[in-house]
Amino acid sequence: MNKHIITLSFLITSFVVFSQHKTIDQKVDELLSQMTLEEKVGQLNQYTGDWTATGPITINPNKQEEIKKGQIGSMLNILGTKYTRQYQELAMQSRLKIPLLFGQDVVHGYKTTFPIPLAEAASWDLEAMELSARIAAIEASASGIHWTFAPMVDISRDPRWGRVMEGAGEDTYLGSQIAYARVKGFQGEKLGNVNSVMATAKHFVAYGAAVGGRDYNSVDMSERMLWETYLPPFKATIDAGVATFMNSFNDLNGIPATGNAYLQREILKGKWNYSGFVVSDWGSIGEMVNHGYAENSKEAAFLALTAGSDMDMESSSYIKNLVVLVKENRVPVSLIDDAVRRILHKKFELGLFDDPYKFSNPAREKEALNNPEHTKAAREIAAKSIVLLKNENKILPLSKNIKTIAFIGPMVKPLRANHGFWAVELKEIDSTYIVSQWKGLVNKVGKNTKLLYAKGSDINSQNKEGFAEAVSIANQADVVIMSVGESWNMSGEAKSRSNIHLPGVQEELIKVIQATGKPLVVLINAGRPLVFDWTADHTPAILYTWWLGSESGNAIADVLFGDYNPSGKLPMTFPRNEGQIPIYYNYFNTGRPAQNETATNYVSAYIDLKNSPKFPFGYGLSYTTFQYSDLKLSSQKINSSEKIEVTVNITNTGKIFGEEVVQLYLRDKVGSVVRPVKELKDFQKVKLRAGETKTLNFTIDKEKLSFFNDKLEWVAEPGDFEVMIGASSADIRLRSDFELIK
Ligand code: GLC
Repeated sequence: MNKHIITLSFLITSFVVFSQHKTIDQKVDELLSQMTLEEKVGQLNQYTGDWTATGPITINPNKQEEIKKGQIGSMLNILGTKYTRQYQELAMQSRLKIPLLFGQDVVHGYKTTFPIPLAEAASWDLEAMELSARIAAIEASASGIHWTFAPMVDISRDPRWGRVMEGAGEDTYLGSQIAYARVKGFQGEKLGNVNSVMATAKHFVAYGAAVGGRDYNSVDMSERMLWETYLPPFKATIDAGVATFMNSFNDLNGIPATGNAYLQREILKGKWNYSGFVVSDWGSIGEMVNHGYAENSKEAAFLALTAGSDMDMESSSYIKNLVVLVKENRVPVSLIDDAVRRILHKKFELGLFDDPYKFSNPAREKEALNNPEHTKAAREIAAKSIVLLKNENKILPLSKNIKTIAFIGPMVKPLRANHGFWAVELKEIDSTYIVSQWKGLVNKVGKNTKLLYAKGSDINSQNKEGFAEAVSIANQADVVIMSVGESWNMSGEAKSRSNIHLPGVQEELIKVIQATGKPLVVLINAGRPLVFDWTADHTPAILYTWWLGSESGNAIADVLFGDYNPSGKLPMTFPRNEGQIPIYYNYFNTGRPAQNETATNYVSAYIDLKNSPKFPFGYGLSYTTFQYSDLKLSSQKINSSEKIEVTVNITNTGKIFGEEVVQLYLRDKVGSVVRPVKELKDFQKVKLRAGETKTLNFTIDKEKLSFFNDKLEWVAEPGDFEVMIGASSADIRLRSDFELIK
C-alpha cells in the first residue's frame, strides 16, 4: 500500500512542479500573447542615456515617459546601481512590467581598466584575456549592466583604421581564439549568474576592411575572402555561446550590413542557426537613408527588420514606423514576434523577470569596483601585453641602482591617455586611479635613484619650446627613458588617420635626445601600429606599450626593470610607411614574388621602399633567448581522416625566466585557388626557466588544412604542405613537409 501512496504523491508533485516549471520559451510565448503590437515594437527600441554619447546624439526628452509606456526595451550608457535602479523602476510602471536591458561598451574593463584589446591580443595569452573579460563582467554587472557591446571581433589589415585598437589584429586564427575567450570571459559560467553579462559579437561584418581605412567607409570583397578571413571570428563567438550580435555601419558589396539579409538571415540566423538577437549599431538603421539604400526612415525600418536586425539602437526608425508597416501588411507580425521573442528570451535568461533589480546591488558594486585582485590582474596582463621591439646592447632590463634617470615625453604623466578610447564614462571619466607612467617609475625605483622629468613636447603640436629643457635633464642623467605616442582619442571610433607617424614633433624630440648619446629607452603608446622609421633605426631599445589601462605605470616599470620579462608578440603587421597599407603576413605569393626585400625588376615590389614590413606579425623579443630544435612529424603522408602529431623542443638559452609564443604556420603549396604563403594554424605560449627545455605538441588535422574553394566549399585538397615553426611570421626557425593524399 505504502509504495502506491509514495508513487502517487511523486506523480502529483511532479505534475504540480512541471505545470509551474515552464520553459523560457513557454514564458516568452505566454508574455508575447499578452502584448499589444505597440508594446512589441517598444521592445525593439533602444536609446542612450543623456550623459554620454557614443554616437551622433538625438536628444529625446520623453525617454522616461516612453519607458513607462513600454515604448523602450533597452537603454545604453546608463550605469551604476543608482541610475539603473531608477530607470528599471520606470519600466516596472509599464503595463506588463517588462524589465529594461542595460547595455554598455565595456570593451576593456569597467572600473578597473585593462589594456586595449589589441594590446591584450599581443599577449597571446587566452587565459589572461578571458580573465580580463571576466573581471570586467564582474564589475559591470555589479553596477547594473546586463550586456556589454564587446568583444569587437573585426579582422583588420589596415592600421589607418582607428578601431584596430578594439580588436585582435589581422589574423583570423588568432582573432577567432581570442573572440571565443572573450565571450567566455564576459558571459562566465552561465547567463543569469549575477556576475555574468551578455556579450556582443560586433561588428557584423567586415567593418575592418573599410576602403582606405576610413571609418564607416564601404567594403567590397569576394565572398571567398569574407568566408575565409572575416566571418570565422564571428562563428567562434557563436561556438562560445554569444548572447547577441551587433551589425556594422558599412555597406558590404553595396548592401548595408544593417539591411543585409544574406548576412543576418541567410548566414547568421539560417546557416549558423543563431538564436540570440541582433542589435543595430548606433543609428545604423536610419543611416540606410544616407547610404542611399532606403528612401526614408519607414523604408529603412522595413529593410532592416526584414533583413534580421532585431533591435534599433538610437535611430527611432522602428518605434516610428513598424506599427504602421504591420497595419499596411508590409511587415508580417510574425517577423516582429521573432525579434521580440529573441529579446524577451534573453531577459528571462538573465532572470530579470524574477528580479528586475538583481544587478543593482550597491553593496556588491562597492566591493567589486575596488577589488585589489582586479588591480593585480590588470597589472599582470598589461605587462604581458608589452612588446619588446629592440634591445641593442641589452640596455634593458634597467638596473635598480641607476643613480639618475630622466623620464621625458608627453606620455609620461597623463592619466587619461592610458585609459584608451573606450573608457567607461558616466558623466566624465574618472582617471584618478590610473597609475601614470611617472608614478609607476616612482613606485619602482629606490630612494637612491633620482628621477628627472621633462615633457619635451606636446603629443600633437609643432611646439619645440620644451626641447631645450628635455636635452638639459637628459644630460644630467645616466639613462633616459622617453614615452611618446598617440593621445587616447587618436585611435578608436571615427579616429582614422591618413598619416600614422608619431604625431607632432615627437620624433624630432627623440632625435635631439638621442643626440645626447645617453643610453635611451623609448616607450611607444598607441591604439594602433604606428610608423616611426627613424626611431626604429636609431634608438637602441623600444617597448611598444599601447594603452595599458589602470596599471599602465606599474606594468611598464615591471618590464623596464625586469620584474617581468616581456613576452608580447605583435598581432598586427607594422608597416614601414602608409604606402605599404594594406600589409599583412598571410599574403598570396603572386606570379612574380620578390626574391628578397630589395628586388624590384619585374617583381611585385615598390621601387622606393623595401617590401618587408618594419615589424612583422607575431614579432616580439625577450630579455632571454630561445632555441627551437627537434621538429618531428608523426607522419609525412596522411589521408584526410588522419592527423599528424607535431613535436618541437624549445629551450631557454638565456639566464632568466621567460615566455615564448611558439607559432605554427602551414603552407598549402598548390590549391584550386591560390593559397597564402603561410597561415597561422596554432600557437602555444610556453614558460621556461633559464636552461629549461620543453617539448611542445601540436596536432594537424583536416580542419587545419581546409579552406573555402571557389565554390565556397570548405575543403582540404590533396597535395604538398609545409609546416613552419616560428618565433614570428618572418622568423621561421624550423620547417618540414608532409603530403595529404586522397
Ligand atoms: C558605436 C560603436 C559601437 C558601440 C555603439 C554603442 O557607434 O560603433 O561599437 O557599441 O555605438 O556605443
